[in-house]
Order: sequence, then C-alpha cells, then structure tokens
Amino acid sequence: MPISSENFDYVRTMARDNAAIVLDPGKEYLVELRLEPLAVTSGFDSLDAMVKSMRDQRTLGDIHLKAIEALTTNETSFFRDLHPFDVMKKTLIPELIVRKSTSKTLNIWSGASSTGQEAYSISMLLLESFPELKDWKVKIIGTDLSNKAVQTAKEGIYSQFEVNRGLPLPMLARYFDKVDDGWQIKEAVRQMVDFRVMNLIKPWPFMARFDIVLMRNVLIYFDMDIKRQILGEIRKTIDPRGFLFLGSSETTLNIDGGWQANRIDRTMVYQLPNDELN
Ligand SMILES: C[S@@+](CC[C@H](N)C(=O)[O-])C[C@H]1O[C@@H](n2cnc3c(N)ncnc32)[C@H](O)[C@@H]1O
Repeated sequence: MPISSENFDYVRTMARDNAAIVLDPGKEYLVELRLEPLAVTSGFDSLDAMVKSMRDQRTLGDIHLKAIEALTTNETSFFRDLHPFDVMKKTLIPELIVRKSTSKTLNIWSGASSTGQEAYSISMLLLESFPELKDWKVKIIGTDLSNKAVQTAKEGIYSQFEVNRGLPLPMLARYFDKVDDGWQIKEAVRQMVDFRVMNLIKPWPFMARFDIVLMRNVLIYFDMDIKRQILGEIRKTIDPRGFLFLGSSETTLNIDGGWQANRIDRTMVYQLPNDELN
C-alpha cells in the first residue's frame, strides 16, 4: 500500500536529520521498497502503522535506527573500480613507505565501509605486495552508519556471489576459509581492520592523522552543505601529505576549494595544497 504523504514527510525529515540521507519528493517508492520488509518483520500490519508508531515515540528507538539502516545503500565489492587500488599499490604505498620509514606507522580509513570489502581489499593488498610492512604499525579503520553492515564486516563472511565480484581467485584461496554459508576472511586479515559504527554527520572521534582516506560512494547521497561539511572534516583529520579517494562519480570541485585534485593514471587522488604543509 502506498505510504501516506504525511508519513513520507516524517521519514524524509528523520532520514535527513539523523543520517543526511536525501529523499526528494518522488522517492516514495524507494521508502516503500526499503521499509515495507522492515514493517513486516517488525510485526506491523502496514508501513503506515510502523511509521505511526515511530512518530508516537519521542526519542529515536531501535525501529528508527533499523529504518535508517534500511534506507542506506550498502552496495560495495572487493577492489571496487580496481584502478584506485592499482594506484595505491604502484605509487602511493611505495611513497608512504619511504616517507614514513622512521615512524613506521601507516593509518588508513575506509569511511562508509559498508560490509567491509573495501577495507579488507586494502589489508590483502598490503599483505600481498608489501611484506616489508610486517614490523610496521599499520592501522586500518572501517566505519559505517549501519550497525548491521559493521557486524557483517567484523564477521567477514561473504557469499559466493560476493567473492566472485572483484576478488582475484588466488586471493580467495589464500585469505579465505570455506564456511557453511560462504567464505570467511581469515582471522589474520580480520585483525588488521578495526570496524566501528560512525555517523559522518555527527562529531568525529579520531585522534589519528590518516595517510589514506577512502570516502567513496557515500557523498553522492548527501546534499551540498553536508558534502562540504564532510570534506572540511576530512581536511582536519587527514595527514597534511595524505591522500583522499572519492567514488568515481564524486569530486571536491565546486564543493570544497581546500583540495588539490591530481590524476594518477585513471584515478583522481585528492590532496591538501602544498601551502598547507607550511
Ligand atoms: C554505497 S556504500 C559505499 C561502500 C564503499 N565505500 C564502496 O565504495 O564500495 C555507502 C555506505 O555509506 C553508508 N552511509 C550512508 N550515510 C552515512 C552516514 N551519515 N554516516 C556514515 N555512513 C553512511 C551506508 O550505510 C553505506 O554502507
């Protein structure tokens, strides 16, 4: 049954205020598609009944969080787009290894890590191609708004379909164990990544300065002010010589002038301008 316009407005405002998700008028079908299954599994007679119950609660409860989670798009895959990982392998990690040979620390953040494939792709890349990092302090952090996605990432169990997407077969053999419901990434790789729930529009908890930040395929869901806010926050948390990757359809251009875009092969890598180093 179609969602009432009053309830659609409520969901729209709630998703915008709590997760910066933009649902323009006309997206009623999307709300119905994403939230109707939740209404059924949560025991409501209809989507409208579920939204009414949400509206009756004064504070955000479990059902609100589940609804926000259901409204997010978690699409991801191992080595998504491939070329950013090639650039890391051929250019950026070798450069960081030279630059950071004294501190021997490497900090990498996969913001909006979804179910973990992006962060695990980096751990496998490091294990595979940079054995010299063995005695380094390498910290990979994966964060996402969705508690469900973070739990999946921590477990590291992927279906046959998911491992068929982007993961080279030798890596599947080397870094995964076959389990009942798919393939589980080995403990040693899991231990390299720390997954946490984090909402990008709430205050950021980081102390670390990241050498590489991946903020891919998430800014597209936000309006201009939120994109600007997030890019500004990344500038505060990235190492002055660090590297930022965005999704292939995302850019800093005309949003936040504090970045310098450099094309390396087929990939745009964003850095702080040199004068920020002084
Ligand atoms: C399309 S996935 C991108 C995953 C991965 N970065 C990639 O490129 O393959 C977008 C992710 O952004 C997360 N997300 C959406 N809004 C968010 C917010 N306000 N804070 C943190 N994560 C958010 C979603 O939960 C989802 O997992």
